[in-house]
Amino acid sequence: FTAEIDATDTEKGTYDHFMLKEIDEQPFVIRKIIQEYQDENDNIKLDPAVRQAMMRSDRIYIIAAGTSYNAGLVGKQFIEKIADIPVEVHIASEFSYNMPLLSKKPLFIFISQSGETADSRSVLVRIKDLGHPALTITNVPGSTLSREADYTLRLHAGPEIAVASTKAYTAQIAVLFILAVDIAQAKKLNLDFDPLQELGIVSSVMESLTDQKEEYEKIAKEFFTDTRNAFFIGRGVDYFVVQEAALKLKEISYIQAEGFAGGELKHGTIALIEEGTPVIAISTQENVNYSIRGNVQEVAARGAKTCILSIKGLEQDSDTVVLPHVHELLTPLISVVPMQLLAYYAALHRDCDVDKPRNLAKSVTVE
Ligand code: G6P
Repeated sequence: FTAEIDATDTEKGTYDHFMLKEIDEQPFVIRKIIQEYQDENDNIKLDPAVRQAMMRSDRIYIIAAGTSYNAGLVGKQFIEKIADIPVEVHIASEFSYNMPLLSKKPLFIFISQSGETADSRSVLVRIKDLGHPALTITNVPGSTLSREADYTLRLHAGPEIAVASTKAYTAQIAVLFILAVDIAQAKKLNLDFDPLQELGIVSSVMESLTDQKEEYEKIAKEFFTDTRNAFFIGRGVDYFVVQEAALKLKEISYIQAEGFAGGELKHGTIALIEEGTPVIAISTQENVNYSIRGNVQEVAARGAKTCILSIKGLEQDSDTVVLPHVHELLTPLISVVPMQLLAYYAALHRDCDVDKPRNLAKSVTVE
């Protein structure tokens, strides 16, 4: 029945919560993004002005907050690995105090679901004063960040109502991927994959994951019903996804959760592992598969309750979840879906207000 979902709908329909509806909408949002950024010859279609701004730049500065910041971390990988332009990712509220030495031709990319986040806007005002160009990637085209930047790319995710962001995160990653690929093509760099086809595969895999909710509900119950804290670990790009996984869990279930770089655990945080502490690991990258499994063994030996989410081709028999294969660069788009579902069911079983968690606002318009 998920095929009937309309991502532009602002009603809950048959869902109890907007968050679950928005998680389910993700495959359709990815398809919509493919459609919106595809020309009649199935090539990527992007505003030429955005392409020129990217091509002129010698370094990209991504500025964002919350979930959008986490999407920016993944986007950096795309722009550096696919488009060959160096990227820095900054937390908007920190940028002004820790302003880096800027390159000669910087381009600022503001990532913001709402386009209204005050912390990001204050950076935009500052860099405009300095005369630097800005691109906003947002779900809301008429928003402040969109109006005040030189260029805008739309997310096409439809209204996101739950405070905890889900479909905007995956849409941001997909649009950053398309942007990186467009630049690579403009620079005539060799790509050994068909980008829109790979995104199409992601969309189908996402759908298969959202069809397996009972599985994630079971894991959430087992790992998060009676715990005060939880750790998510990963290496490489999986480290970026575990940061988003921890943020989701914190936001809506109030469990103290941290997303950690697997190799960094031993430098301090492993002291927190006790009998029964939940540790969830993501392993989707061949080059770190061995090491992250080593980290799981280290925490298991100290009593942690562990669970590994891996991907076809890298899996071992004991893994709790094995994701279907997608292109190695695009694994964040699928590994995050189980994490969103885990957070959702954890919050549900702890009787939390899933769509409107305490102390949080959907769009934060104060600094
Ligand atoms: C708030 C929301 C978060 C969101 C962040 C950035 O804190 O609760 O879910 O990630 O703002 O919002 P933006 O609209 O700029 O993406």
